[in-house]
Amino acid sequence: MTLRSLPIPAETAPGLGLDGLAFGCDYNPEQWDRDVWREDVALMRQAGVNLVAINIFGWSHVEPRDGEYDFSGLDEIIELLADAGIGIDLGTGTASCPPWLTTAYPEVLPVVADGTTRWPGGRQAWCPSSPVYREKSIALVRATAERYGSHPAVKLWHVSNELGCHNAACYCDVSAAAFRSWLEARYGSIAALNSAWGTAFWSQRYDTFAEILPPRATLSFVNPTQRLDFDRFCSDELLGQYRAEAATIREFSEIPITTNFMVAAHITALDYWSWAPEMSVIANDHYLDHRLPRPHVELAFAADTTRGLAGGSPWLLMEHSTSAVNWQPRNLPKAPGEMLRNTAAHIARGADGVCFFQWRASVSGSEKFHSAMLPHAGTDSRGWANTVELGRIVTRLAEVRGARVHADVALVFSWENQWAADQEAHPTSDIRALEQVHALYGALWDLGVTVDIVPPGAPLDDYALVVVPHLYLVRDADAAVIADFVRRGGHALVTFFSGIVDETDRIRAGGYPGAFRDLLGVRVEEFAPLAEHDAVALSDGSVATIWTEPVSLTGAESILQYVSGPLAGMPAVTRNRAGAGSAWYVSTVLQPASLRAIVERVTREAGVHPTAPGAGAGVEIVRRSNDTHEWVFVLNHTDAPVEHGFSGHELVTDRAISGTTALPAGGTHIIRQDRSRP
Ligand code: GLA
Repeated sequence: MTLRSLPIPAETAPGLGLDGLAFGCDYNPEQWDRDVWREDVALMRQAGVNLVAINIFGWSHVEPRDGEYDFSGLDEIIELLADAGIGIDLGTGTASCPPWLTTAYPEVLPVVADGTTRWPGGRQAWCPSSPVYREKSIALVRATAERYGSHPAVKLWHVSNELGCHNAACYCDVSAAAFRSWLEARYGSIAALNSAWGTAFWSQRYDTFAEILPPRATLSFVNPTQRLDFDRFCSDELLGQYRAEAATIREFSEIPITTNFMVAAHITALDYWSWAPEMSVIANDHYLDHRLPRPHVELAFAADTTRGLAGGSPWLLMEHSTSAVNWQPRNLPKAPGEMLRNTAAHIARGADGVCFFQWRASVSGSEKFHSAMLPHAGTDSRGWANTVELGRIVTRLAEVRGARVHADVALVFSWENQWAADQEAHPTSDIRALEQVHALYGALWDLGVTVDIVPPGAPLDDYALVVVPHLYLVRDADAAVIADFVRRGGHALVTFFSGIVDETDRIRAGGYPGAFRDLLGVRVEEFAPLAEHDAVALSDGSVATIWTEPVSLTGAESILQYVSGPLAGMPAVTRNRAGAGSAWYVSTVLQPASLRAIVERVTREAGVHPTAPGAGAGVEIVRRSNDTHEWVFVLNHTDAPVEHGFSGHELVTDRAISGTTALPAGGTHIIRQDRSRP
């Protein structure tokens, strides 16, 4: 089944007017002399680059003084790129304000929860609610869009850059006033807000909206619904900046508009489900995070989520890295074959273009140790050879453009849930919602099952199985979609601490897991998180850690039991027949092998199959297809060679293969198969 429940963005990467897949980079010519620009453009052609993002941090160059514009540098680089036939992803330049602005208007600077200011000298030092920032940034966008809005080389507008990467939340007085207006619009009356926030607690009742502040640093726990609404407000406030820039561009230009999302493990500040419908093309930035146990599995999750945001349409990988980044505690270079494997993984999961940060490695500034397509070592380097080689392969992959990914499993995921679930004063501080999402996704990845990531409430009719990891906050209507799906014959797997609260973070009384209690046929009266390093034995010989629950069966059967500790003999995993379908519940943190075994059983009962034989256990296999062809992506993440049996034209090595083919350690094969052949 394909994702078709979400609004499909108006245009997709093919709409950029490029011949094949996008292959490109961020380019910061303002860091280099003009003669370097010419060399760069010549080398870009050599590498097969066809899309270049410029003017991302251009503000202080384009507007060196308030209201004084100097487009000469931008004019020149745009003409150089245009003459070389390279498409331009034109930044609005508003990502980081110039020193003249924050000197003249220091009120633009963001303030953090403890009331201290964050100063210029880095980037993104602006308050999302600042009227001064809005006015000055929109003036810049207007001047830029007026000048280049119909330039034939401009294929895409790039609003700001990674909105909210550093400045998602500002707690200044201007933000406080904007938060109050947002709350008035949401609740209509102070009585409704008091009820939603549960302000009867700790004498928090508000008499007027004027008394409300953002959740600034407090002595004790802050009101959780105040915090949750502030998270929602912050996401909306930055979306407001996107909308204002996009609307200004539209006065002068018909070219597609986007901004680069950060669907990543370490940044969760924006609710991209609400942002996605506003983009002409969904674009994401993704960097392998070596602080995670399996960075390549998180990459797959991020890519699948980005495809979900695109409603199943192709999307654009706006940034990843050729090798090491500079912002993790330990910045590991990529192993041979890894850049191709990462690139192929994004394309396999729906990207119609892959771009890098950045073109030429900087020699100054805080990103000078970040890898680039053209490394410090120059063209006489392995890095450059890799860039050119990758360009050749991506050019060959032009035929994949527009092909779709199919999945029989939907995973329900929400940023809003993370904000609520990860708050303080919960039963344990040892759980992070996203880790639980990754655990369940990882089990499916290990089984070689392709998954669509969907928001709560998405129609599920096209799927055989829905997995619901740690969905603490869920609206009644969204929980009902899952229950209806099961009753009509679908299968569901729900994990602990799901269904607990409604959208106001209010507990559903009557027993956990609240909204899913009836569907799952279980009832829990009290959570039983474990002490640090504690574990209890399970009937499959494994152990449960961090979280347990005394589960009473109210219709479900017990599949796996606790066999030690105070819950010995009680169910840990259950299955409930509900209508024509079944609903499984996992009440604890299972070890990966144990979770995989449960997920394997659930998928089997749901009739869900791995993408291909041999998928899983370190070998990622994903298919994209159109009416005539299917492309099988085989990625060997292990350090040993593997064999596969796909026949067709292999596009990495550009040769026909059949029978059994060896794929080297770390290697990638992309096999085109003819769908019309019997
Ligand atoms: C982000 C930004 C880029 C750059 C890279 C470095 O993706 O958008 O400007 O800072 O990170 O990894």
